[in-house]
Amino acid sequence: MSDRPILLVTRKLPDAVEARAARDYDTRFNTDDSQYDADALISNSADVDAILTCSTEKFTADIIARLSPRVRAVATFSVGYEHIDIDAAKARGLIVTNTPDVLTNATADIALLCLLGAARRQHESTAMMRENRWGRWDATSLLGVHMTGKRLGILGMGRIGRAVAKRARAFDMEIHYSNRSRLSPDLDQGAIFYQNPEEMLPQAEFLSINCPSTPETHHFLNADRIALLPDGAVVANTARGDIVDDDALIAAAASGKVSGVGLDVYEGEPSFNTGYLNLPNAFLLPHIGSATVDTRDAMGFRALDNLDAVFSGGEPFDRLA
Ligand code: DGY
Repeated sequence: MSDRPILLVTRKLPDAVEARAARDYDTRFNTDDSQYDADALISNSADVDAILTCSTEKFTADIIARLSPRVRAVATFSVGYEHIDIDAAKARGLIVTNTPDVLTNATADIALLCLLGAARRQHESTAMMRENRWGRWDATSLLGVHMTGKRLGILGMGRIGRAVAKRARAFDMEIHYSNRSRLSPDLDQGAIFYQNPEEMLPQAEFLSINCPSTPETHHFLNADRIALLPDGAVVANTARGDIVDDDALIAAAASGKVSGVGLDVYEGEPSFNTGYLNLPNAFLLPHIGSATVDTRDAMGFRALDNLDAVFSGGEPFDRLA
C-alpha cells in the first residue's frame, strides 16, 4: 500500500500532466474521457483524497455535500470556476484551487483572433476558398471593418482583459474598459475607465468580453445593451457564453446592428444556439482559448502545484476556498 495521496483526474489531460500526476499520486484516470455526471463524480471519488477536474464537471452545493469526507481538495484545470459552488466548498472545508496566469496570453491571442476574424469576414472568406468558389480578386467583395485606430471596449480588465489591451495597442486602438474597480495607472496604461459598463458601450466600436461569469454578468449583453453599441460594432466573447443573450446577439448580427461576432464560448456548451450557424458574419471557435500545448501543460502543472502544496501542509497558490 502506497502512502501517496489518491487523486481522481476527471478528464483526459495532456500526457506530461498525467505523467507528473502518476509520479506523485496514486492516480485514478478517466481513460476513456467519459463525461462524469453527478453520480459518477460521487462514486469515483468515494476513496480519493483529491480531485483534479475541469470546467466540464459541475460541483454544485448538492454534489459537494455528497462528496466523501475523505476528499480534501478539488483543483480545477481552468481559470474559470463558475462550475464550483465556492460558498458550499468553504462551508464544507473543501480546498478549491484554479489556474490563473498561465492561460492569460493564449486566451488573449484568441480574443484578438475573434475580433479580427469577425471584423475581416473570416467565415465567408474561408468558405469561399474551401468550396473553391473564388473567381478572381476584386475591389469590392468581402470588405470588412478596419480595426486599426478604432475604439475597443473591454468588459473585465483582469489579467486576460489587460493582455487583450496590450495586443490591441499594437493596432493603435483606443482602449476603454469597464471593471468592478479602476485599475492603477501602471495597470490600465491610460485606458479610459467606466464604472458603469453602459456608459462604455456607446464608445465600443469593438467590444471584447473578458469578465467572469457571475450572477451579475449573466446575459449582460442583452438587446438593451446591444442597442447602446455604435452601429456596426464588432463583438467578441472569449470569457463565458452565458454573459451574452444569444437570441439578442444573433438578431443584432442578422440586422447589421452588429457587423460581426467572434465567439469562443457558448451558453450551455458544447450545445450552442444554432442561430449562429445562419450568420455569415459569425466567426465561431469551439472554446480553444487556452488550447496550446504549452498552455495546457502549464495549466496541469499549476493545478498539481496547488495539490502538492495541500498535501505537503502548505498553502496552495491559487486558493479559492
Ligand atoms: C478556463 O480556464 O476557464 C478555460 O476557459 C477552460 O475552461
